[in-house]
Amino acid sequence: MRTPNHAADVAEVLLAEDAIRAKVAELGARLSADYAGKPLVLVSVMKGSLPFMADLMRAMTIPLQIDLMEVSSYGGATTETSGLVRILKDLSASIEGKDVLIVEDIIDTGLTLNYLVRYLRGKNPASLRICTLLDKPARRIVEIPIDYRGFQIPDRFVVGYGLDYGEHYRNLPYIGVLKPEVYGAG
Ligand code: IMP
Repeated sequence: MRTPNHAADVAEVLLAEDAIRAKVAELGARLSADYAGKPLVLVSVMKGSLPFMADLMRAMTIPLQIDLMEVSSYGGATTETSGLVRILKDLSASIEGKDVLIVEDIIDTGLTLNYLVRYLRGKNPASLRICTLLDKPARRIVEIPIDYRGFQIPDRFVVGYGLDYGEHYRNLPYIGVLKPEVYGAG
């Protein structure tokens, strides 16, 4: 992959910083009400969900715990999912009897989350729900019940606010559409 250039490689800003901030505040308020009094654990899937997780937990006003997992679904610098999910980092504590909320950056084909949901169910949480910032329904292969959704987006490859292409662009504060020529499709 060639050297990334943030300004030149983004075709358009899909979600600006203030739109993301407002949505995260709204989700945080809803979640705080829904999970009041419950032993909540937010499980974030690295690395893409880190900015969302960091902002969402601070938009919540109830006691909670967090845990981090890392899975790989894409084979490096490609925009196609492989369907193969590998756990690179597992939970660090038991979630048995806890109310678990998976915090995801984006659901595309749904293959990653489908695997993760089955994996986490096997650990006997009291409940298991899904919160995703972005939902790209056009390419869904497996049906995923999304309990909390930030934005539904069109079938475009997006970067920023944690999302990457070839491990770059994660630090953009907004979510932008990557120019197709950057990933060799233009
Ligand atoms: P799924 O298994 O196809 O649902 O893919 C989920 C994962 O693919 C996400 O957690 C992202 O890491 C990655 N992904 C899917 N769509 C995009 C995108 O538009 N930009 C960047 N990463 C994406």
